[in-house]
Amino acid sequence: MSIILTGIQSTGIPHIGNILGVMLPIIEIVNNSLESVFILIADLHSLTSLKQSYNIKDYSYKIASAWLACGLKIYKAILYRQSDITQVTELFWYLNCFFPYRRLKLSHSFKDKKKMNNTGMFTYPILMAADILLFDSNKVYVGKDQLQHIEITRKIAKKINNLIKNILIIPEAKIKKDSMSIPGIDGYKMSKSRKNTINIFYSKKEIKKQIMSIHTTSYNDKNHMIYKIYKILSKKNDFLSFKKKTAYKKAKIELYKYIINRFSYERKKYKFYLKNKKIIKSILYKGTKKASKIANITIKRIRNALKFN
Ligand code: TRP
Repeated sequence: MSIILTGIQSTGIPHIGNILGVMLPIIEIVNNSLESVFILIADLHSLTSLKQSYNIKDYSYKIASAWLACGLKIYKAILYRQSDITQVTELFWYLNCFFPYRRLKLSHSFKDKKKMNNTGMFTYPILMAADILLFDSNKVYVGKDQLQHIEITRKIAKKINNLIKNILIIPEAKIKKDSMSIPGIDGYKMSKSRKNTINIFYSKKEIKKQIMSIHTTSYNDKNHMIYKIYKILSKKNDFLSFKKKTAYKKAKIELYKYIINRFSYERKKYKFYLKNKKIIKSILYKGTKKASKIANITIKRIRNALKFN
């Protein structure tokens, strides 16, 4: 039986790119699987790009609410905040001592120097390796942009296995085969940093504003973003009737209505969980308890191998 793990950084509320590309595919796997599944809210990773106005705890609750609102069967998964499992940061240090500094400097995240303004951003991949190796994960579900981090994780694990003792499981990255990158309202891949998202968990007014600002060039351009986004979201028949509406303003309104309708259940649930934080807190508490128990066993094994004990 394999162990599945995935994580989402808690720097924003998941947008439809996150939801369609990562969350829904994972939820489908988790809800139909008998394997152990760990889902972490990467709040320690978020700390690397903290804004002053930002409340880490609130964002963690929002991510947890989004998972539940999108249909995650909570009894199938261990959902926890990374910061609640202090064993992660302990393992992080050990792993730091087994990865060459020069190599880390070659990583995408380091090369993207604009973002690099603290040491946490530099060592970010090693913290992710700790998340993964702590639970002996075999399969790690990530987006394409995270593949390099899994490669780094594998390298560290192999090095420790060869140099010290064969104690770590070498994880494999899993990307959903047909995982599409969802275009944002400017036509580029939807991402929070590009500010081109559509957020189903925002207010109707805000969603409308996002959709009305989808970039359009000509009336009849069948490749434009309104069509692309609608096509990804909709069933075939819905799409065929939509295609006939050519005027782009009308098409945008149609898309807006479609999104509100398609995600009305999720929006309701999301609001419910945010209002009832007690439920979320109790779910995270239970997740932490289970995860921590397992983490202790791994840490003990690693401390023994490193001869601390
Ligand atoms: N860095 C990942 C992202 O931004 C989030 C993450 C943190 C993660 N730890 C993880 C993903 C462990 C998978 C496994 O998407």
